[in-house]
Amino acid sequence: MTILSAEQLPEDDLERSLRPRRLEDFIGQETLKDQLSVAIAAAGSRREALDHVLLAGPPGLGKTSLAQIVAAELEVPFVQTAGPALERKGDVAAFLTALEPRSVFFVDEIHRLPRALEETFYPAMEDRCLPITVGQGAGARVVTIDLPPFTLIGATTRTGLLSTPLRDRFGIQHRLDHYQPAELAQIVRRSARLLGVEIESGGALAVASRSRGTPRVANRLLRRVRDYAQVRGSGVVTAQAAAEALDLLEVDAVGLDRLDREILRTICEKFSGGPVGLSTLAAAIGEEQDTLEDVYEPYLIQLGLIERTARGRAATARAYAHLGLESPGAQLGLL
Ligand SMILES: Nc1ncnc2c1ncn2[C@@H]1O[C@H](COP(=O)(O)OP(=O)(O)OP(=O)(O)O)[C@@H](O)[C@H]1O
Ligand SMILES: [Mg+2]
Repeated sequence: MTILSAEQLPEDDLERSLRPRRLEDFIGQETLKDQLSVAIAAAGSRREALDHVLLAGPPGLGKTSLAQIVAAELEVPFVQTAGPALERKGDVAAFLTALEPRSVFFVDEIHRLPRALEETFYPAMEDRCLPITVGQGAGARVVTIDLPPFTLIGATTRTGLLSTPLRDRFGIQHRLDHYQPAELAQIVRRSARLLGVEIESGGALAVASRSRGTPRVANRLLRRVRDYAQVRGSGVVTAQAAAEALDLLEVDAVGLDRLDREILRTICEKFSGGPVGLSTLAAAIGEEQDTLEDVYEPYLIQLGLIERTARGRAATARAYAHLGLESPGAQLGLL
């Protein structure tokens, strides 16, 4: 169970209110949407449960939203839990036996499911049954419970942590990638409309291009930018108001925030450009290793600012240039 801090709560309400409800409101990820809409229509017309779906990708790209959309499109109940909340086989059995036929059963952070429980899912996913041991010792026997047809949707920030047998049991697997600025601008305009914020297209693009390819970040920045436009400007989010607000928030031109820059600076200055191991880097910055790996690193790698090598993380020449530092290669006269 995740405990939310008071500061996170209002953002969470906001997130719920901005969540796309239907496939047509979900912007971008065209291949995945096409694939899903065909599968949903086919399952719907056969009155069958949709194949199990695995959604992977960095936080805030729309995995939870998509899972809810699939349930809405199938017009079936949506039942939600998360890997760490499932501790015993009985927890899984309680969920699965209570499902209405064809329901979507969403398991967030499925990579954090205890290993021993993964095996409970195999027969449930494949044969729709759950073998349970009743009694103890010599009198123990195995009873098989039949389950209603259901669709398991697993979400994970790390496919690498899922065992192959579990991964292979998902008929539909997809990796969500970071969004293009044009798509994010569309998301920002939609959110602005829902929030009643007046925004010019230049303003939407300014927010979009500094949102590290992530809809959740775009929505969060939009809120901050709206505050700025109200207090310091005319209330309309223009390109200029957006740029000023984002500068004030220390979000730079490529969307890096203060922690991103600290990561780069630490690698460049404290560890001479690396490679430095993830745990050492996390300790030097005072962040959780998981947060670094799931949230920060994918975008820094995508921008070509850091590289993941066998011996750890290394800063690229581009990272030095971005921070306005002289790269070691240049000092040696290599560049
Ligand atoms: N394609 C999209 N179109 C419109 N809005 C989106 C899209 N993807 C995400 N969002 C917005 O971003 C917010 C975060 O999305 P969501 O919670 O689904 O991400 P997630 O991948 O489940 O993240 P996490 O891994 O942290 O659970 C949503 O509230 C929604 O408003
Ligand atoms: Mg989620």
